[in-house]
Amino acid sequence: MSVQLLVASHAAGKGTEADAVFSILKEANAAIAKLGKDKVVNASIGAIYDEEENFVTLSAVEDYFRRLPAAELMNYAPIAGLPEFHAAVLEQTFQGFQPDNTYAKAIATPGGTGAVRHVIYNYLEQGQKVLIPDWAWGPYRTIAAEHSRGIETYCLFDEEYRFNLASIKEKIEELLALQDHVVIIFNTPAHNPTGYSITLAEWRKLVELFKDCTADPKKKIIPLIDLAYLDYAGTSEETRGFMKLFSELPENILVTMAYSMSKSFLIYGLRSGALVGLSSSEAVIEEFYRVNVCSNRGVWSNGTRCAQRLLADVAKNPALKTKIDEERAFYSRLLFERANLFLQEAAEVGLQLMPYHSGFFITVPAANPRALAAKLMQEQIYAVPLKKGVRFALCAVPTHKISGMPTKIRQALGKDNIPQV
Ligand SMILES: Cc1ncc(COP(=O)(O)O)c(C=O)c1O
Repeated sequence: MSVQLLVASHAAGKGTEADAVFSILKEANAAIAKLGKDKVVNASIGAIYDEEENFVTLSAVEDYFRRLPAAELMNYAPIAGLPEFHAAVLEQTFQGFQPDNTYAKAIATPGGTGAVRHVIYNYLEQGQKVLIPDWAWGPYRTIAAEHSRGIETYCLFDEEYRFNLASIKEKIEELLALQDHVVIIFNTPAHNPTGYSITLAEWRKLVELFKDCTADPKKKIIPLIDLAYLDYAGTSEETRGFMKLFSELPENILVTMAYSMSKSFLIYGLRSGALVGLSSSEAVIEEFYRVNVCSNRGVWSNGTRCAQRLLADVAKNPALKTKIDEERAFYSRLLFERANLFLQEAAEVGLQLMPYHSGFFITVPAANPRALAAKLMQEQIYAVPLKKGVRFALCAVPTHKISGMPTKIRQALGKDNIPQV
């Protein structure tokens, strides 16, 4: 129930629902305090913890910050971000897969979150809807609501858990009949919460669809690709190869990407990332840059200078880059090992999972996710109930606690809680 005391009417209902992740984390921490760490599986939080359940940093990144002069650590950055940072973001994002004959620019934002905010605000009219997948990171909804934009959802998977192009087509066409702009969010590779990555063949079909839907120059499609887990999903070619498909798109398609340093450098709290725009039109990219830099000034001013300096230095210091890449690769392999153990046992006990390729999370579909999460809590397994399943953050669970988990989940699910498809 929301009570409006002093706030304006549009703010009255805000914050009445507890944050799904942080409320489960609180319960997990209470259980750890009572029973001890060994008795509790905390699969709630989307940050990497090592095999001893300590928070992980990349030591080369930590050393870098500890040696940075105070002015680089604490001073303002330019509103748009350091120019060297822009170049480094484009290099990191594309890693050689920028499509031919395109213009690209980057603008510093506080994490990928800031980039998502700018696209939803600057590329939709007030009251228009942003198209997001039914399986999605919760804050997309919060950000849309915060800016008086609505939400429409497409089904990411069909009944057989295959990528659902038909649903995307239907929803884009429906929205284009009502509004001239469509902003559609994809979180790939290593989607949160399922771990799915859109394949190259699926991207080819998506690009064709975007082109078909923008034959009328009045209609505009702005795909927003949320790259939060980009560096934990395979080689540069596997993770960025699809970007090459965005060449020679019509001018009324603007590809936008939310680049994040949070996971790639394990600096979640330093709040650094960028919004990247890609277009066949120089004018569209100039407008993109002007408008979004102005939004920086109007919302949070500037980003975190030391994080920008890190990325700029990584781009010009091969030894630093190699060290960071090697450390990240170690944790990426650890995630794959944990996931493989989970997948193997899930197959053995007949536990249905959402299609997983890589990343921080594995999700179990359930008819009543809250009931499943509550039952698992009795077993001291803490995971986040979503609308249509329960998300297990394997990034936070040491390997020795993974064996046995799928069996317990299968038992807790029972017969009644398996979704009917
Ligand atoms: C799917 C997804 N997108 C974006 C983000 C934003 O991350 P940040 O703003 O820290 O870059 C996250 C973080 O958890 C995420 O899971």
